Amino acid sequence: MGMKLDSVVPWGRSYEEYVRMFSLSEEDIRRPILGCGDGPASFNSSLTKLGGQVVSCDPIYQFTAQEIKSRIDETYESVIAQMRLNEQGYLWNTIKSIEALGELRMRSMNLFLEDYDAGKADARYLALEFPKKLPFRDNQFELALASHFLLLYSQHLSYDFHLKSINEVMRVAKELRIFPVLTLDGKRSPFLEKLIDYFNGRGFFAELVKVNYEFQIGGNEMLVIRQ
Ligand SMILES: C[S@@+](CC[C@H](N)C(=O)[O-])C[C@H]1O[C@@H](n2cnc3c(N)ncnc32)[C@H](O)[C@@H]1O
Repeated sequence: MGMKLDSVVPWGRSYEEYVRMFSLSEEDIRRPILGCGDGPASFNSSLTKLGGQVVSCDPIYQFTAQEIKSRIDETYESVIAQMRLNEQGYLWNTIKSIEALGELRMRSMNLFLEDYDAGKADARYLALEFPKKLPFRDNQFELALASHFLLLYSQHLSYDFHLKSINEVMRVAKELRIFPVLTLDGKRSPFLEKLIDYFNGRGFFAELVKVNYEFQIGGNEMLVIRQ
């Protein structure tokens, strides 16, 4: 895998944020879940402690806990500085300030780091890079989640990358939820309508669903694709 550690900017969300971004119900969290591009989020760690079943994939899992931790420490200040520049693009009602955001993200990433070695041993953190074929059986997962990975990077990852990745996820999971449907500049992904039409035209059900989470202004919808 070609990913270089110095190109990684680790930034991880919390379990509670995943629950709200993806409107996860009590029933959802009892289903076998695939996390796509989970990075240093604490969703896997917390859900596992709650007795759930989740496998996360991300190319950063080729690195050791120490390597990821060093990279978090190296990049933290510049991510916070960037947030200060873009402060007006976010809604500061739940997360009240940049300081609170920094603490929340560090808490989540520390929960991830504490769980990382055990999770790797349990094959809950797999170093996999989309859009490659996934080492899972057809329908192995009931639900796949992609937080701040697909659609968000539409300026860097092509339409073809999205099609291949999503088609492969839909082979191994019965349902995929993607949040947000905005790109980094806060506009709707230019691929969104095309992807909805593509999957609806191929026997899937694809739709936008409102969620009770908004941090990036206007980012309060997820794309749901079901078999
Ligand atoms: C902004 S982070 C989001 C992390 C986590 N999902 C969250 O919401 O806190 C984006 C993640 O996508 C991962 N990523 C980038 N390219 C990828 C690829 N080709 N396949 C899988 N994951 C990828 C990155 O390594 C990074 O961890």
